[in-house]
This record gives sequence, structure tokens and C-alpha cells, in this order.
Amino acid sequence: IERTLSIIKPDATNRNLTGKINAKFEEAGLRIVAQKRMHLTKEQAGKFYAVHAERPFYDELCEFMASAPVVVQVLEGEGAIAKNREVMGATNPADAEAGTIRAEFAESVGENSVHGSDAPETAAEEIAFFFAGLEIVG
Ligand code: GTP
Ligand code: MG
Repeated sequence: IERTLSIIKPDATNRNLTGKINAKFEEAGLRIVAQKRMHLTKEQAGKFYAVHAERPFYDELCEFMASAPVVVQVLEGEGAIAKNREVMGATNPADAEAGTIRAEFAESVGENSVHGSDAPETAAEEIAFFFAGLEIVG
């Protein structure tokens, strides 16, 4: 059974939307098998998003991710990586399908409420970045 890393981003924790967002995951059949609330430093956010280091929005992205608490979690289910991205919707909320998290809650392409791993390799790396094996309880 597949696992993926999910982050509820600062724009969503600021607006007290963690429960509404997690309801979407659970309704889609994803189980939250690990979860913690953290306030990342800009350095930690930069390390997590290191693949985007050359992108023009990198500094803004790291500032944003460190601007308020996030909720990091592991979601488990059949095809969890793809299913999570389906429930999240397109990166830019203007392009996100109706009913998706980003269509309903995201404020802009930068402040888009959620992160989800994009492939099995990145999911494994991203889960290990935040969680020890013993913290994941399926
Ligand atoms: P993640 O699940 O967060 O990785 O989103 P994604 O896979 O849909 O998008 P991508 O990996 O391409 O970009 C990572 C994150 O960078 C996005 O979720 C946005 O928060 C941010 N981002 C992407 N494009 C822009 C942009 O043009 N401007 C700003 N400010 N942020 C952006
Ligand atoms: Mg991505």
C-alpha cells in the first residue's frame, strides 16, 4: 500500500482550515497515518524545497513556508501519491478542478494550501525528511 507526504501550508493553517482539508483526504479514502504541526525555519523550508532552488520564486516560497505553522502528514492508500494530487488540484488554483482543495481554499499559485509528493522516490525522501519510521502508524 502506497504512502505520500502531505503538507498543509501556512495560508491554510492561518485560516484554520486543517480539519476541512483533512476531511477531503479522508473522503477520498486516504488515511492519515502520521501527523505533526511544526513551525519550519526558512532554512528547513529551503532544504525541503531544494529541488526548486533555481526557480525565481524559491526565496518567496521558503519565506512563505516559514511564515506560520504547517501540518506535515503521511497519507496512505491505494495509489496514494496520484490520489492525493487529484484531491489537491492543479498548482494554480485558477486551473484547479471544482471540488479540489486548491479550487476551494487556495489563494494564489504561491499560497496554495497544500503540498503533495509527486512520485514514489520523492515521497520516500520527503517522508524520511520529516518522520522516523516509528512515528508512522498504519
Ligand atoms: P507542491 O505540492 O507544493 O510541490 O506543488 P506542485 O507540485 O503542484 O508545484 P511545484 O512543485 O511546481 O511547485 C512547488 C510550489 O512552489 C508550489 O506548490 C507553489 O507553492 C510554489 N510555486 C510554484 N510556482 C510558483 C510561482 O510562480 N510563484 C510562487 N510564488 N510560488 C510558486
Ligand atoms: Mg511539487
